Amino acid sequence: MQAKRNILHLPVYQPGKPVEDVKRELGLDEVIKLASNENPYGSSPLARQAIIAEIENNSIYPDGASIELTAAMAANLGVQPEQLIWGNGADEIILMIARSFLEPGDETIMASETFSQYRHNAVVENAVIIEIPLVDGRHDLPAMLAAVTDKTKVVWICSPNNPTGAIVTQEELSSFMNSIRSDVLVVLDEAYCHFVDDVDYHDSLELLKRFDNLISLRTFSKIYGLAALRIGYGIAHPSVINSINLVREPFNTARVAQAAARAALADQAFVDGCREKNIRERDYLQGEFDRLGLKYFPTQANFIFVDVRIPSKDAFDALLRKGFITRANWPKSPNWLRISIGKAEDNRKLIAALEQVLREAAVLG
Ligand SMILES: Cc1ncc(COP(=O)(O)O)c(C=O)c1O
Repeated sequence: MQAKRNILHLPVYQPGKPVEDVKRELGLDEVIKLASNENPYGSSPLARQAIIAEIENNSIYPDGASIELTAAMAANLGVQPEQLIWGNGADEIILMIARSFLEPGDETIMASETFSQYRHNAVVENAVIIEIPLVDGRHDLPAMLAAVTDKTKVVWICSPNNPTGAIVTQEELSSFMNSIRSDVLVVLDEAYCHFVDDVDYHDSLELLKRFDNLISLRTFSKIYGLAALRIGYGIAHPSVINSINLVREPFNTARVAQAAARAALADQAFVDGCREKNIRERDYLQGEFDRLGLKYFPTQANFIFVDVRIPSKDAFDALLRKGFITRANWPKSPNWLRISIGKAEDNRKLIAALEQVLREAAVLG
């Protein structure tokens, strides 16, 4: 027995280390996880109530078409219900897009460094991956456009980009969409869109009115704090949604996830509060990196990519011993750590620990 040859070399996804494992392994009382861009403020109490109420229906399959959640989201965004699709996290929508649109030998274009799952799923489909290096942490859209050939099927744009936190502007994206062939699907991953405060950020809902070959991906895992429930969505022209629906599993999102997402959507005050705190803490961390003379990319998300000037694996291990889980081992950026923005108190502790680690490594004077 052998799996498909093109997947044999693929790494199994390594999630951020769980807090309890680190506590046990290192004998620590307190461990702060700043590795997976989760919401440090939890989720809306309305979502919690909805989850508890929905548990009564555990023996009943979910609504495969997520009709009520779709109606609520369509009204919230001002789009048609036929423009929405739900996934077991945005991750599953990425998988379904690859499954639906990529055939062996098709070309697909993405940035490098960016979210790993575009490449992973394209490899599974045996597509040819074209990676275009970031410039100063930002997507190089002109170079991505120049890489399009008659074999190109899908282009992936992550904005804010994971791991750099940089955005693409409305002007850049609009000009890109105007120039690219209309039979190339452009996937705009907006998993972190709710954290953005840059006025030049793209308006995907406006672009979706003009371009049928665009799909926006969003998630309830980040600002809504529902990562455990695995629920994300795509917004696109009904024909694109239809193509993805052809490969969707019948009951791919759980009842509790649908109920929680509906409740979370109604609690805008929770979202606004998380966004404000994230912006305040982002400014604090960036100010501290400036003070320490560490290079970073100004971020529009709930994480910061910072050059620690030693192999990131060493910085990761040293911080882990002090009770902080971060994210290291970036293929193109060996000295950079991605650090999720936590609560005020945790961020201050992180800075003290990082400063100590870098002084001991003689990076800081
Ligand atoms: C850019 C990006 N897209 C998509 C996802 C997947 O999100 P979900 O939890 O909805 O699967 C993540 C998760 O970290 C991400 O960083």
